[in-house]
Amino acid sequence: MKAEIVAMTADAIDHAALARGGEILKQGGLVAFPTETVYGLGGNALDPMASKKIYAAKGRPSDNPLIVHIADLNALAPIVKEVPEKAKILAEKFWPGPLTMIFEKSDLVPLETTGGLNSVAVRFPSDPIAAELILQAGGYVAAPSANTSGRPSPTTAQHVEEDLGDAIEMIIDGGPVGIGLESTIVDFTEDVPVVLRPGYISLEMLQEVLGDVRMDKGLIKPDSKVHPKAPGMKYRHYAPKADLAIVEGPTEEVINAINQFVKEDQANGLQAGIIATEETISRYPCGTVKCIGSREAEETIAHNLYEVLRKFDQCQVSKIYSEAFYTPKMGQAIMNRLLKAAGHKIINIRREEQ
Ligand code: TXA
Ligand code: MG
Repeated sequence: MKAEIVAMTADAIDHAALARGGEILKQGGLVAFPTETVYGLGGNALDPMASKKIYAAKGRPSDNPLIVHIADLNALAPIVKEVPEKAKILAEKFWPGPLTMIFEKSDLVPLETTGGLNSVAVRFPSDPIAAELILQAGGYVAAPSANTSGRPSPTTAQHVEEDLGDAIEMIIDGGPVGIGLESTIVDFTEDVPVVLRPGYISLEMLQEVLGDVRMDKGLIKPDSKVHPKAPGMKYRHYAPKADLAIVEGPTEEVINAINQFVKEDQANGLQAGIIATEETISRYPCGTVKCIGSREAEETIAHNLYEVLRKFDQCQVSKIYSEAFYTPKMGQAIMNRLLKAAGHKIINIRREEQ
């Protein structure tokens, strides 16, 4: 199967194509579509066979649940047991937008969609193309990120085509996404809301609205025996083919250390890549250097992260060194993804020099 690729923009939506996409979804087929975070691989969330097809197309373990996408607030009640007051407040403030909330599921949602769990993750995306497709499909679209399992999430339709072009019916090309990192996930199945995956909506933004919100302990100490509650967060993920290491410490020392590592690798016959910023790129004379964005505009770093990781897969590098990006707002989300891509390999310059 070769996916039909249909291009459109939010300002010039091809309604006929979205009606066709909706029909494919209603018939149990798969359609990839843009959202404000990353591209999603959509299937009818209420159809167990469609969910099975999603897992097969991605090569995703079947215990890793899917997010159900809605495009109308009234669609929430039928698929959950109860919506806690605090979740209503978040919905009011952040939906439609890059926020996913987890609730006890109703019987309408098949266990195939939730990876066997009795809870369901729900997201109401703000992208108008996504919204129209979801409505055309009947209101409930299960959509993981539209990448092959383990690869960086797709931020353009070309990325989707690379990974899934031969496995699905249709790809809707709405141009590059806005944010570039997946939605923030908040779990409402416990007494205190818990962030299971950091995203554009930060812990601080949630706390400002709700007061007490916690970070999943499995995210805070990824090396300990506490596992992340979101099954998807436990896998090595977003991983480039080359060996990625994050180099941490004062900027000058990080630059010197990376230059040194690259020289040593080259002496050993290895090609190395470097993930730099606009502020530092001119300081790396050797190796394959890619700019991820500017520290002055941290959203550019979030936006380009997956694209940069994918680009390195097309270069002949066997090692990649990245600066660390603990930026004020999105740093938590950026570093969460970068650490997973690096399999948590961090070289701490300060510590090494002590
Ligand atoms: O921004 C996004 O959320 C994108 C776009 C396409 O909407 N979707 C996305 O889906 O990132 P996916 O499947 O790549 O990631 C879903 C994450 C996984 O880590 C999964 O384990 C977790 O959500 N998840 C889903 N349902 C859950 C549940 N009931 N309990 C705990 N974690 C859940
Ligand atoms: Mg994913």
